[in-house]
Amino acid sequence: MGTEPNKGGFLVSPSALLLHSSILLWLPLVFVSEATVDQERLVLFDIRNHWSNAPALSSWDVSSPPLQLARNPLAHLDLSYSDIPGGFPTGLYSCSNLQYLDLSQTLLVGELPSDIHKLSSQLLYLDLSYNNFTGDIPPSIGRLVSLHTLNLHCNFFDGSFPAELGNLSTLESLTLAYNPFASPRIPVEFGNMTRLRYLWMTQANLVGEIPEALGRLAELEHLDLALNGLSGSIPAAIWSLEKLTTLYLYDNKLTGEISDKIAALNLEEIDVSMNRLTGLIPEEFVKLSNLRILFMYYNRLSGEIPRGIGLLRDLRDVRLFDNHLVGVLPPELGQHSHLTNIEVSNNRISGSLPQGLCANRALMSVVVFNNNLTGELPASLADCYKLKDIQLYNNNFSGEFPQRIWSASVNLTTVLIDRNHFTGVLPDKLQWNLTRLVMNNNWFSGRIPTRAPKLAVFRGSNNMFSGEIPAELTGMSRLQVLLLDGNRISGQNRPAFAI
Ligand SMILES: *[C@@H]1O[C@H](CO)[C@@H](O)[C@H](O)[C@H]1NC(C)=O
Ligand SMILES: *[C@@H]1O[C@H](CO)[C@@H](O)[C@H](O)[C@H]1NC(C)=O
Ligand SMILES: *[C@@H]1O[C@H](CO)[C@@H](O)[C@H](O)[C@H]1NC(C)=O
Ligand SMILES: *[C@@H]1O[C@H](CO)[C@@H](O)[C@H](O)[C@H]1NC(C)=O
Ligand SMILES: *[C@@H]1O[C@H](CO)[C@@H](O)[C@H](O)[C@H]1NC(C)=O
Ligand SMILES: *[C@@H]1O[C@H](CO)[C@@H](O)[C@H](O)[C@H]1NC(C)=O
Ligand SMILES: *[C@@H]1O[C@H](CO)[C@@H](O)[C@H](O)[C@H]1NC(C)=O
Repeated sequence: MGTEPNKGGFLVSPSALLLHSSILLWLPLVFVSEATVDQERLVLFDIRNHWSNAPALSSWDVSSPPLQLARNPLAHLDLSYSDIPGGFPTGLYSCSNLQYLDLSQTLLVGELPSDIHKLSSQLLYLDLSYNNFTGDIPPSIGRLVSLHTLNLHCNFFDGSFPAELGNLSTLESLTLAYNPFASPRIPVEFGNMTRLRYLWMTQANLVGEIPEALGRLAELEHLDLALNGLSGSIPAAIWSLEKLTTLYLYDNKLTGEISDKIAALNLEEIDVSMNRLTGLIPEEFVKLSNLRILFMYYNRLSGEIPRGIGLLRDLRDVRLFDNHLVGVLPPELGQHSHLTNIEVSNNRISGSLPQGLCANRALMSVVVFNNNLTGELPASLADCYKLKDIQLYNNNFSGEFPQRIWSASVNLTTVLIDRNHFTGVLPDKLQWNLTRLVMNNNWFSGRIPTRAPKLAVFRGSNNMFSGEIPAELTGMSRLQVLLLDGNRISGQNRPAFAI
């Protein structure tokens, strides 16, 4: 008989809590006098008035509150996704049993009141995300010591957030992401929130260093400090957070080397791209048996990619482009996992592409241009039917470009393989979705295709193509760039053109 949560409407429904056994545990089962209930009824009436009887609240009948409210004081208030603009409703201070307050996406504006700690001391959950709040987050918020969730992301807070947040010693989730704060540092006091599992501070104008103290957050599973101006090195202690699964530090100004002691063995996703990191990719990454995503592109990393990375069974996506990496690609890469993406372009990697790169037929893109790769393409590429994007240009590959890659069952969109030593021939009809084929400066031979419905760019100069270019390229109606000079094409009654 519980009132179902009604998104878009008004919900005052402690009874909804009964649907969740975990929440049931903290539902107050104290006797409450009729007077208290009447009082709360008035409070809710005030709140409705505060919002000028906004249409979103009209369905709520003040004179006959839901059955559960008649027995228990208000514990759960969810007004999310309501259209109730205005300032923070301080009338809620009177709801002394409030445990769950969701005011996300309600068009609230202005500053948070400096006495926000007057909200119920029993408050466990406070969600103010996706509003238009501005100014500072008041220090007194640190006095809501029962909180386990505090969501403040996606607002317009342009002041500071207080070190007092560190007093929330039972907090499990804190989100400050996507706010234009006035260049705050991460307070060392954040290291006191030792129950914290989820810390989301993406694009919050953070500056200064990542405090070593965050290494004390032993329960932390998700740490996202991406898209800020953080500098200094990544504290070694971060790499020892044993429960950490997700580490996003991309697009900062981080420098220094990555610790070579990795005890955060549950890491599944590492993204430290777009920083100024130097030194090696730690050999100990090979112990991260759950690693799915390894993004370290746009840094100054040197040395070789640890060979054992190729043995990781969950590895899906590896992006290490734009570094100073040398040596060979891990020979087992792709053999033991459903690798979908490998991007290592703009390094100085040599050797050949790993034989099993598409052994599990999951590969969608292989982007390795501007390296010093040699040898033939792995046979596994030929039946790699999910492959869309092949970018191998400016290497030293040789041998035959596998004929079967051109079959209709491989849904290619981009093939950039110029400046290698490939041999091979093209079929008369290219794949339906192929839009860019750049293969100049190789040793391809045979006739050029006549049918390629979506092909926009075809650069095939300096090969050994022969035959004729048809006078009407009706089979390539989307073509904008065609370059075929330096071939043995005869009867060429129209010169190669480029638009
Ligand atoms: C909230 O901010 C957005 C983006 O600046 C703006 O379009 C919208 O009108 C604002 N809403 C209110 C209620 O101030
Ligand atoms: C809360 O934190 C501040 C600064 O971090 C500190 O000075 C203050 O004593 C703390 N208050 C309580 C009640 O713990
Ligand atoms: C909180 O952090 C500060 C600075 O790291 C420290 O001095 C203080 O003792 C901590 N407080 C608690 C209650 O742990
Ligand atoms: C290809 O190999 C040759 C000789 O082994 C070398 O001189 C050349 O620099 C290599 N090309 C690239 C792009 O590394
Ligand atoms: C590429 O590799 C070849 C031999 O493997 C070597 O001779 C050449 O110097 C390398 N080129 C570059 C640019 O590293
Ligand atoms: C082919 O590639 C296009 C473009 O990436 C994609 O939208 C489409 O779903 C693919 N089709 C198949 C059958 O994989
Ligand atoms: C080409 O791409 C479209 C979507 O962009 C997709 O629906 C279609 O299945 C693809 N064609 C082939 C033959 O894969």
